[in-house]
Amino acid sequence: MDLPDNSIIILDFGSQYTQLIARRIRELNIYSHIVSHTTSSAELSRLSPAGIILSGGPASVYNDGAPLSDPAIFDLGIPVLGICYGLQLMVHTLAGKVDSGTKREYGFAELHISGESPVFHQLDPIQKVWMSHADKVLTLPDGFAAIATTSNTEYAAIANQEKNLYGIQFHPEVVHTPNGKEILTNFCVNICACDQTWTMGSFIDNCVADITRTTGNKQIILGLSGGVDSAVAAALIQKAVGENLICVFVDNGLLRAGEVDVVRRIFEQTFSMKLHVVDAGKRFLDKLKGVTDPERKRKIIGHEFIEVFDEVTNEYRDVQFLGQGTTYPDVIESVPINGNPSAMIKSHHNVGGLPEHMRLELIEPLRNLFKDEVREVGRQLGLPETLIMRHPFPGPGLAVRIIGEVSEERIDVVRQADSIVMEEMKISGYYDQVWQSFAVLLPVQSVGVMGDERTYENAVALRIVESMDGMTADWTRLPYEIQEKISNRIINEVRGVNRVCYDISSKPPGTIEWE
Ligand code: XMP
Repeated sequence: MDLPDNSIIILDFGSQYTQLIARRIRELNIYSHIVSHTTSSAELSRLSPAGIILSGGPASVYNDGAPLSDPAIFDLGIPVLGICYGLQLMVHTLAGKVDSGTKREYGFAELHISGESPVFHQLDPIQKVWMSHADKVLTLPDGFAAIATTSNTEYAAIANQEKNLYGIQFHPEVVHTPNGKEILTNFCVNICACDQTWTMGSFIDNCVADITRTTGNKQIILGLSGGVDSAVAAALIQKAVGENLICVFVDNGLLRAGEVDVVRRIFEQTFSMKLHVVDAGKRFLDKLKGVTDPERKRKIIGHEFIEVFDEVTNEYRDVQFLGQGTTYPDVIESVPINGNPSAMIKSHHNVGGLPEHMRLELIEPLRNLFKDEVREVGRQLGLPETLIMRHPFPGPGLAVRIIGEVSEERIDVVRQADSIVMEEMKISGYYDQVWQSFAVLLPVQSVGVMGDERTYENAVALRIVESMDGMTADWTRLPYEIQEKISNRIINEVRGVNRVCYDISSKPPGTIEWE
């Protein structure tokens, strides 16, 4: 990995806010990148960032196995800002003392800035800040001085100005610290001398040049999923290599209604891309016969997808590269944090899941972008807003929205119910306000009456959630009238459904999908 000039590196000590720090800095038009706290000083020196931020983290520096950093990072001559645990780690490493506090400080605090420090440049001497810590600094390492206090600690912010080492006990990255952005700007711009030139436009220009250089005149194959990430990756790669990009769209028979037409319209007609659509529904369905276990469904679908993709690739002799829409959260989520596998998310994130024999080199232009940045790139490349603002759709498709065995009839039921949900969400204007909205077909039959007859038919659950990133979610308080309309339409229009339920579970402890 190499970094653009003027970047900030964030060493991750496991805080829930680490990604937030990265985003805040990117909002300043400065590129930031998260790396593990174990990254060596030699590697950091090679990457040559303009500044280093040590994130917070849940540990105490005195814990057995507490995440530490290479002590030599403080001697690189690169400015360092430690946030919360990052501050305590800096103090601990440089031979100051940290008290494993008994009194937890959580919430707002009044910060009193003492004297002049570039971190607090142009800020009023009293600031509202957000605290969330138990341990606190007792004595400072040599060369450090306090630059701000609170009623709970005389070392709420510290500095060794000569060496450009700074530490703050509070969290500037959260919205509860109103001037947090100014503090981060002071560190990145005044102390690290970053120029604020990293924009999506400059990202596209650099990326296109990079792809052209890497791929030369060779062909690149890319699997479109119908979602935002692969679409934006395709548009970006096409801008770089034009005709040398071959897009493959596998119709696995588990797609939403009209999906193939949508993909054709956008990629073949608007973007004039070489699009290879494979009608593979029967293959997938055959393999899924009798399977009810969700993880097995995923594995079968993932495996079959690779087979199909491999076959298509073999038809093109000059393909040497594989384009993928992997994004930054995929990469971060796929790396175990501090060796803790529970921090890894599901098996489905398709980062690097290629069979050996394909021997294709990966091109992942969005690997370092957050979702909203990916969307902005898509907009700048001219992708339609309807695609850019699409809800996420799982790779295994409708198969994980059919609880139990997948069959053609059951796919039809959930597909029809899904398109009614989509239509009504769009008509009501709620589609753009929620993270996801869909129907789930339950393996439950219940008694109903239709006309004069008793029915014994399926139940469908509506899952409509709000979320920032899919990691946590809350159910949407969708107005009753809209719920009623969706329910009436599904029961009247979809044969085989006589009951609709609304899922009111949050994530955690529930998940967004039902399987
Ligand atoms: P859960 O259900 O784990 O979902 O709360 C979080 C987000 O991930 C999507 N999801 C998947 N995406 N393959 C995918 O590509 C999968 O197997 C899969 N399972 C869940 C889900 O739709 C939500 O956006």
